[in-house]
Amino acid sequence: MYPIIESEELAPDIKRFRIRAPRVARKQRPGQFVIVRVHERGERAPLTIAGADPEEGVITLIVQGIGKTTKLMNMLGPGDALLDVAGPLGRPSEIRQYGAVVVIGGGVGAAIAYPTAKALKEAGNRVISILGARTKELVILEKELGAISDELLAATDDGSYGRKGLVTDALRELIEGGRRIDYILAIGPIPMMAAVAELTRPHRIKTVVSLNPIMVDGTGMCGGCRVMVGGRMRFGCVDGPEFDAHEVDFKALASRNRLYREQEQAALRRVLANPQADLELVRRHRPAEEVS
Ligand code: NAD
Ligand code: FES
Repeated sequence: MYPIIESEELAPDIKRFRIRAPRVARKQRPGQFVIVRVHERGERAPLTIAGADPEEGVITLIVQGIGKTTKLMNMLGPGDALLDVAGPLGRPSEIRQYGAVVVIGGGVGAAIAYPTAKALKEAGNRVISILGARTKELVILEKELGAISDELLAATDDGSYGRKGLVTDALRELIEGGRRIDYILAIGPIPMMAAVAELTRPHRIKTVVSLNPIMVDGTGMCGGCRVMVGGRMRFGCVDGPEFDAHEVDFKALASRNRLYREQEQAALRRVLANPQADLELVRRHRPAEEVS
């Protein structure tokens, strides 16, 4: 079992969990993810590792409650435990000394971008972070990203915090202002990553995105996570999750991610109608049955 040590609400329906998972905490690298199962009948849900403390044996996961499993997870707290935390999975981010780096976190994408942004800073890069959210209360990790960035620009769609506009507006200003940019990491919703790719393509700025295709096993066996990159079929779980943004077929990714929308909505309605049934399954396993 993987006990939840702490949980904290960062924004409405976005929670930060600290989970005891010593082996994952020791081995994980920025950019990797885990697949969790909350209980024995639960689906396998991929979640990017938002941080780790190898000495304490604890990993951090930041969860936005949008589907059945993430909504259920956000009902849990200390005293509860996850049944499985498999990982670390996926290829770690490519951390190099690129020079001037822009890290873009759209919405909960900021949680995924943070560990890589921190590693890029530690590798000697100059880091400009752009943090975007629909509105002020959805801005997350500003303090954490600010602490490892040379510059941080916040933007909200409604102008309630930072500049008014999308992350791409802030990026366009940097590019058009003649700022030197050697590398961009953009993580957020698919339309955002597609828009960043189109913005940087004519300027030939190396741009990397972290994709979130449908995943099942997370180890290259099921093919569920296939994405088209550079005209070739790649697996998000083992070849990614990070890919060259200028090569990704975002349209195909968006349409594959919509394939099971109806079933996902029905499962979500079932859980929300009777969360107790799922919570009882979670509480059948005890945090004391810990793994090392
Ligand atoms: P959101 O829709 O609130 O968008 C966050 C920010 O992204 C916006 O404030 C804006 O600045 C920017 N953005 C959004 N659409 C844009 C566009 N068309 N052009 C330019 N900028 C744009 O984000 P959210 O609610 O956090 O996430 C929505 C979806 O994205 C969820 O389904 C989530 O699973 C998915 N997501 C995926 C990843 C990933 O792994 N790549 C990360 C975060 C979220
Ligand atoms: Fe099954 Fe990637 S999740 S192959």
